Amino acid sequence: MQILDGKKTSEALKAEIRAEVDALVAAGHRAPHLAAILVGENGASITYMNNKVKSCHEVGFESSLIKYPDTITEKELLAKITELNEDPKIDGFIVQLPLPKHINEKLITESIAPEKDVDGFHPVNMGRLALGQGTLIPATPAGIIELLDRYDVPTEGRHAVVVGRSNIVGVPVSLLLEGKYKKGNCTVTVCHSKTKNLAEITRQADILVAALGIPHFITADMVKDGATVIDVGITRVADSSKKSGFAIKGDVDFEAVAPKCEFITPVPGGVGPMTIAMLMKNTLTAMKIKRG
Ligand code: GUN
Repeated sequence: MQILDGKKTSEALKAEIRAEVDALVAAGHRAPHLAAILVGENGASITYMNNKVKSCHEVGFESSLIKYPDTITEKELLAKITELNEDPKIDGFIVQLPLPKHINEKLITESIAPEKDVDGFHPVNMGRLALGQGTLIPATPAGIIELLDRYDVPTEGRHAVVVGRSNIVGVPVSLLLEGKYKKGNCTVTVCHSKTKNLAEITRQADILVAALGIPHFITADMVKDGATVIDVGITRVADSSKKSGFAIKGDVDFEAVAPKCEFITPVPGGVGPMTIAMLMKNTLTAMKIKRG
């Protein structure tokens, strides 16, 4: 069994991005600039945002964190997005999800200029991904592929089973795994809450991606010997022994499942840090595309 170490891999990736940024700046260009909009006080969102800002500093990017109370109107948020779309000094930006109920997430996602959509959530970017022309690819799925690539996990002709069909992870990761992308060419089965005989299907997986958000849902009896298991779950569970008052739990019962695996990602320290590193990579890509 080998751990797919997302922390170590993301550090290596960020060092590569940093070297590219340093070279750009040395050549007289400005550094890439990532902006992020955060609405409200969602604890998990605040943690992600702080990590994103920290990573921007690490790779030498400019960053702007724009915070609004959850009383902001949809119209005000749209006005800010228009401003960022038009600002030539902003290379990419994200609007942290989830948003308060009175704001239409679909409308917000579609109002972001596709060339600045470093989350890759805009229908144009998702459509390009489906057509095998993806450039700004959602960061979590892109991070999973990068991990498979850097650890040389074979994918071609393998059966990948994805549990979960969210727009952020399940849908794009299944497109990447089945497509003619690097670490693609799998045969993919997507499972979800209406799937019958789920364990029978997951037991057929050479590569199992768990992205449903239910702590320890994937148990040892659902995994084939020698499988590669990718755990996308990051659920906060109350834990009085922790200073923060919570522990982060993955979708996979790691203790029981790991001994059966050829490769497995831990939580924390697996997919999570890769997501942030790929967001940095997307911002650099957005800047390069803009430059032509
Ligand atoms: N909420 C949870 N994950 C993400 C993400 O990758 N991007 C944004 N914008 N919001 C999120």
